[in-house]
Amino acid sequence: MTDSTKTATLTIDGQSFDLPVLSPTAGPDVIDIRKLYADAGVFTYDPGFTSTASCDSTITFIDGGKGELLHRGYPIDQLAEKSHYLEVCYLLLYGELPTAAALDKFEDTITRHTMIHEQMHNFFRGFRRDAHPMATMVGVVGAMSAFYHDSTDISDPHQREIASHRMIAKMPTIAAMAYKYSIGQPFVYPRNDLDYASNFLHMCFAVPAEEYQVDPILSRAMDRIFTLHADHEQNASTSTVRLASSSGANPFACVAAGIACLWGPAHGGANQACLEMLKEIGSVDRIPEFIARAKDKDDPFRLMGFGHRVYKNFDPRAKVMKQSADEVLDLLGIEDNPILQVAKELEKQALEDPYFAEKKLFPNVDFYSGIILEAMGFPTSMFTPIFALSRTVGWISQWKEQFSDPAHKIGRPRQLYLGETYRDYVDVENR
Ligand code: SDX
Repeated sequence: MTDSTKTATLTIDGQSFDLPVLSPTAGPDVIDIRKLYADAGVFTYDPGFTSTASCDSTITFIDGGKGELLHRGYPIDQLAEKSHYLEVCYLLLYGELPTAAALDKFEDTITRHTMIHEQMHNFFRGFRRDAHPMATMVGVVGAMSAFYHDSTDISDPHQREIASHRMIAKMPTIAAMAYKYSIGQPFVYPRNDLDYASNFLHMCFAVPAEEYQVDPILSRAMDRIFTLHADHEQNASTSTVRLASSSGANPFACVAAGIACLWGPAHGGANQACLEMLKEIGSVDRIPEFIARAKDKDDPFRLMGFGHRVYKNFDPRAKVMKQSADEVLDLLGIEDNPILQVAKELEKQALEDPYFAEKKLFPNVDFYSGIILEAMGFPTSMFTPIFALSRTVGWISQWKEQFSDPAHKIGRPRQLYLGETYRDYVDVENR
C-alpha cells in the first residue's frame, strides 16, 4: 500500500499517540491502528465495520458518492456493455484484460472443468425436494472438499489455481442441478459446445424429451447478470470467505461459508425478497402504503432492493439492470409487465420522498434483477443461487489476493465486553 508521511494523533488521558495515515490510490485515507493496542492499550469499536478497512485490495473499488464501480479500474457499465462474464472473471483473477489467445485458453480451461464428480449426484438426493436451492448449494459446495483433494492444499499456488478454475466452472452445474432436483427433473450435463451463460440456461431448462435451443437474447441477458454480480469489495459474504480462509480452511469450505452468508435477505437474498415484495404490493395504487411502512420506525418492513452501505447515490448495477429489464421483457414480447410497472413507480415515488432522499437510499443491484430472472423462467428461489454463482469469481479472486500477502494472519476481532466481571461459583443450595 502507499504509505504516506501523514499521521493522525490520538490523545487519551493526556497521552498522545501518532498513528500512520495510509493513502490509497482511490477513496478515503486510512488510519493504520495495527499497533494501537500494543502502544495505547485500547481497542477501536466498529460493529458492522461502517468505518473499518479489513484489508487492502487492488481488485474492486466503489465510489459510493458518485455511484461508480470499478473492477481493476474498468467501470462496470463499460464491462457490462462491451465485455462478457468469463473475460471479467479473467480480469478479476489476474488483474488485466486478457489477450485473445489468453482468453481462449482461459475459456477452454473453464469449459473443461464444468462437470462435477459423478458420485456427488448422490448428495442432492439427501435433500427434500422442497429444500431451498441455497441450502443444497451450501451443502454440495462444501462437499467438494471431500472430492477434489488435489486442489485443497492452499499453500500450493498451482492447487489454488486449479481450485479457482474448478469453483468458477462448477458453480453453474451445481446451481442448475439444485434447480432440476427441486422440480423433479433429471440433471442435464454441461456441454462444451455452449458458452458459459448458454450452458447454464441449457442445464436449467433442457429436458431429455426434446431439443432445447438457447435463446441468444436470454443468454446475453444471463451473461450480463453474471457480470453485474461478479465482485463488490469487502461485502458481507466476501468478508466471510476472507475470514474463513484466514484460518487456512480449504477454498471449497470457504466458498460454502460465503454462500451461507449471501443467503440472508439483507444481502444476496434481497433479490428474492424484492420480487416477493413487488408482488405483495401488486399494483401502483398500493405503493404509498408500503412506502409509509418502510418509513415507520415501529414497522420492521424495509423496501427490499433499496439502500446500500456504500452507495449513497444510484447503484450503477441497478441502472444497467433496469435497462436490461426493459430490453429483455420487450424482446420476449412481455408487454406491460405489471410488476415492472410497480417497480418503476415505486422507485419514482421513493426517490421523490424526503425520507429516502435524506437517507440517500437508492435502488441497488437486487431491485430489478428478479424481474428479469422471472421473465427468463426462473422461480424466485433460484435468484440468490444465481447471485452466488456470479459472485464465486469475486470470492475466489479476493481469496487468492489474501494469500498473495505473505503477512496475512488469522482474523480475530476483539470486543467491547459488557458482561459480569470475575465472581466465584455458587452452589445450587445457596442460590
Ligand atoms: C447487497 O455490501 C454489498 O456490497 C452488498 C451487495 C453486493 O454486491 O455484495 O451490494 C449486495 O447485499 C445489496 C443490498 C441488498 N439488501 C437489500 O436490498 C435489503 C434492504 N436494504 C437494507 O436492509 C439496507 O439498506 C442494507 C442492509 C442494504 C444496508 O444497511 P446499512 O448500511 O446497515 O444501513 P442501515 O440499516 O443503518 O440504514 C440506514 C438508515 C436506517 O434508518 P435510521 O436508523 O438511520 O433512521 O436507512 C434506513 C434504516 O432504517 N434504511 C431503510 C432501508 N435501508 C436502510 N429504510 C427503508 N428501506 C430500506 N431498504
